[in-house]
Amino acid sequence: MITYVLPIDNVSLEMAKSEIMRSGVVAFPTETVYGLAANAFDTAAVEKVFAVKGRPNDNPLIVHVHKDYDLSELVTEIPYYAQLLAKAFLPGPLTMVYKSKDTISKAVSCGLDTVAIRIPSHEGAQRFLKYVDVPIAAPSANLSKHVSPVTAKHVFDDLNGKIPLILDGGKCSGGIESTVLDCTGKIPCVLRSGLISREMIAQVAGECDEYVFKDGEKVRSPGMKYKHYSPRCETVLFGYNDREKAFELYRAKSLQGVKAFLMCDDWVAKQSGCPDILNLGKNENEIAANLYDKLREGEAVAELIIAVAPQKQDGVMVGVMNRLKKACG
Ligand code: TXA
Ligand code: MG
Repeated sequence: MITYVLPIDNVSLEMAKSEIMRSGVVAFPTETVYGLAANAFDTAAVEKVFAVKGRPNDNPLIVHVHKDYDLSELVTEIPYYAQLLAKAFLPGPLTMVYKSKDTISKAVSCGLDTVAIRIPSHEGAQRFLKYVDVPIAAPSANLSKHVSPVTAKHVFDDLNGKIPLILDGGKCSGGIESTVLDCTGKIPCVLRSGLISREMIAQVAGECDEYVFKDGEKVRSPGMKYKHYSPRCETVLFGYNDREKAFELYRAKSLQGVKAFLMCDDWVAKQSGCPDILNLGKNENEIAANLYDKLREGEAVAELIIAVAPQKQDGVMVGVMNRLKKACG
């Protein structure tokens, strides 16, 4: 199969729609990462998404809709706090889990009685969702366990020959996946941290819990139990206060002839004096936006990525740390 990478215009949108309507899958951009889209009403299409990615079939998909879509077609109840949150943060990188009306394919939620809904803010995503005008089930458009894609090229590198079309909407501005928020309880609960932080949610909703997976318990967000975001080279993570040890390891490995790269923010990069740097940038937003791009750049050139955690550990950095820890085993 030839995989076309096309800018988003009427021609590519028409191609995307005809693929979606005949149970095909296509990749599209969002403000977080690229998604692999299937018609959420169509079980054969949803199964194709799992097959193309090699995704375990107990890990449910997020359903994406455009900003004017009537959610009462998909969910039974939207609590008041969720309405406030939607007003504050949507369209945007916040996925909200509701009780499902069971109108979409059962394959989307993998047997759960809930459905995760996302209204992305990326202009190209909105155009695509409006054009196809069906709810779109979509995970990140990478091979399962690999680093999520933030450019059309990243998608191509993973899925060339496996899907017919990648809609190219440029580099994703957010860079890590949306916050997944359980909105089925009395107060909202973060299942996966992301660009909309727990603090930001609590400010609007009054309170916000954070789910911590305990061994032996039935997991509430199945995606959490899988290894994710792994670059195809060795990786090691140092805390911010241990950065001198990271610099030492870099020097020792380089002397042994190992192609090592230091992955860190701009400030630590300058301190280190190392020539081989994967620079995550100057502030929180840049660090989140560059994380996956730099992991993918790193796996292409490095035998070993030595990552140094950011100094700040709250807000958006909770999501960044969560991905860094998983990427570095
Ligand atoms: O930013 C994003 O969320 C991207 C873009 C493409 O929208 N999508 C994404 O999808 O990251 P994926 O499949 O890589 O992650 C979906 C996460 C998983 O952790 C999954 O367990 C959780 O959402 N999830 C989906 N449906 C759920 C549900 N009904 N209840 C609890 N968690 C759910
Ligand atoms: Mg994913």
